[in-house]
Amino acid sequence: MITTPLTFAASANCALYCGAKPIFADVDPETYNIDPASIREKITERTKAIVAVDFTGQVVKADEIRAICDEYGLIFIEDAAHSIGSSYNGRTVGTLADMTTFSFHPVKTVTAGEGGAILTDDDLFYQKLSLARTHGITHDEAIMEEAPHEGIWYYEQISLGYNYRMTDFQAALLISQLSKLPFFKKRRQEIVRKYDKAFSEMPEIIVQKDLPENDTCRHLYIIRLDLKKLTCTRREFFDAMSAENVQCQIHYVPVYWFPYYNHLGYRKGICPRAEEIYTGIISIPLYPKMTDQDVDDTIHAVKKLISYYRVDKNG
Ligand SMILES: Cc1ncc(COP(=O)(O)O)c(C=O)c1O
Repeated sequence: MITTPLTFAASANCALYCGAKPIFADVDPETYNIDPASIREKITERTKAIVAVDFTGQVVKADEIRAICDEYGLIFIEDAAHSIGSSYNGRTVGTLADMTTFSFHPVKTVTAGEGGAILTDDDLFYQKLSLARTHGITHDEAIMEEAPHEGIWYYEQISLGYNYRMTDFQAALLISQLSKLPFFKKRRQEIVRKYDKAFSEMPEIIVQKDLPENDTCRHLYIIRLDLKKLTCTRREFFDAMSAENVQCQIHYVPVYWFPYYNHLGYRKGICPRAEEIYTGIISIPLYPKMTDQDVDDTIHAVKKLISYYRVDKNG
């Protein structure tokens, strides 16, 4: 299974759960999404699937990835944990891949407290996913092995599954949250526009590129520090942002840098572009309840630190 290293560990761990091997393809230097050219280089006869992550909310190059999957007979799984509400060439996330996975973790654009969902329009995937969710048990006579059954109470376990059911309480919250998605998207896009405008004027900051075919509902906003133009390290900048009362995060440590992957034999250097991007990125606050003042304060803090740390004081 091929995926990106610039993601939350879950995008790669899913392969390990089923005995598959995660292979990491490098990312596009401007969008930070998985690069279709790098996917092609990593495909072997053992490749079965591609897990493409819509990093920060921007949809991957879905048509190119679809074409690769069709050419090599691979399953296209889109990890849309960040991208609910986004679209690509006018097509909404959830309609592009063979399966699209969502996360409703509390920090996500739409939350159910915890949990997630998978969308597919493929009957066989739907059946397998339904079984995996409910202990491998089915009430569907059409796929039972021992039918005709004994009565309407009868069900069969026909594979080995898990309990991945969502509770009704979570579903109720999710329904209410989904109705607010248009508002969440509008506000997130307003904030992103303000950030983009402020930071694209600063030579020490590289702004993540949004491709014209995308209408992105961003979950995360990342600034990338051009450390050659600054006298500080990323760590110092991060700590200075905290001192300015702006709590930041880093998304993400390249997955194969973690000890667990190191013990499996993965080493640094597999995806040089992702590793280089990682060294300079910082996620700044982005959530719909931010006031205009919060947004201005964040921009002000970044500008203040950049002018303090910049190498070229005349810039
Ligand atoms: C890109 C990505 N994929 C998968 C996940 C896993 O989602 P969950 O924690 O809901 O299982 C996350 C969660 O943060 C994520 O960011």
